[in-house]
Amino acid sequence: MSGRFDGKVALVVGGANADESRLLGFAGLSALEIARSGGMVVIADIDDEAGERSVRKMKEAGLAADYVHLDVTSESDWTEAVAFTTAKHDRLDIMIMAAGIPDRGETIESTDVDSWRRVMDVTNLGMFLGTRSVVGPMRRSGGGSIVLISSMMARVVRDQANAYATSRAGMTHFARSAAVQYGSDNIRVNCVLPGWTLTPFTSGAFDDEWQKRLASRVPLGRVADASDIAGPILFLASDEAKYVTGSELLADGGVVGWIGPMD
Ligand SMILES: NC(=O)c1ccc[n+]([C@@H]2O[C@H](COP(=O)([O-])OP(=O)(O)OC[C@H]3O[C@@H](n4cnc5c(N)ncnc54)[C@H](O)[C@@H]3O)[C@@H](O)[C@H]2O)c1
Repeated sequence: MSGRFDGKVALVVGGANADESRLLGFAGLSALEIARSGGMVVIADIDDEAGERSVRKMKEAGLAADYVHLDVTSESDWTEAVAFTTAKHDRLDIMIMAAGIPDRGETIESTDVDSWRRVMDVTNLGMFLGTRSVVGPMRRSGGGSIVLISSMMARVVRDQANAYATSRAGMTHFARSAAVQYGSDNIRVNCVLPGWTLTPFTSGAFDDEWQKRLASRVPLGRVADASDIAGPILFLASDEAKYVTGSELLADGGVVGWIGPMD
């Protein structure tokens, strides 16, 4: 039986949380699903413990997976991760870039320069270095799909976390620009904009009470889990989206479109 990702090689950045016995991240789950559907996966992250554990379990399950350490703000780490991937598999078809950090800044005045830079670097320097590193091998493979994980915060704002929202909006514009530049190489570049999702990234903040409060703001009536976001990621990564590039796929349960209760 042929799989959806047969023969495809995917570099999944920020995908360390791919161990099903624990809370999954959505890039982690995407890595797992690509491998289960015939693909070969390289997970890259700074959380070596989680990444190595996930890959060990994937290998035990007979899946094609490796782990490499990659800090997305490091040019040399990107070079090494891509070199590892192409040396092992001789091609590169998919890159999912999901590395992210929370923004501790409250107001603009209370955000210090170091935390502004850190958020911008992980998201915006990360997506730039990543895209720059993978387009060569993708071109040599006959094309590819780059999926950048932005956020619904690219479309709306809160009264805090300005660096996070700004960096995520920057990502959507970068994706359009990269889509234009690399379209003739058959390299597609798209963004997924997740809404509130229970993953290791949010589990510290999303206790039951908070999840209930958030759910009351979601037209679909619940906070998302990793599978709600992995679906859109996998669609954009796959050939089903072969004519989709430069787009933003909002996966927020309807939050951004809702003006809120009228009472
Ligand atoms: N969970 C949500 O509600 C939500 C909503 C919108 C967007 N996002 C974004 O989605 C992405 C994926 O998050 P998730 O919710 O699946 O959680 P996750 O914790 O599984 O994924 C984030 C990963 O990024 C890694 N990371 C952090 N800094 C890095 C760096 N410098 N280099 C490489 N890796 C780094 C972390 O180690 C972690 O494994 C994040 O960028 C997050 O900002 C999350």
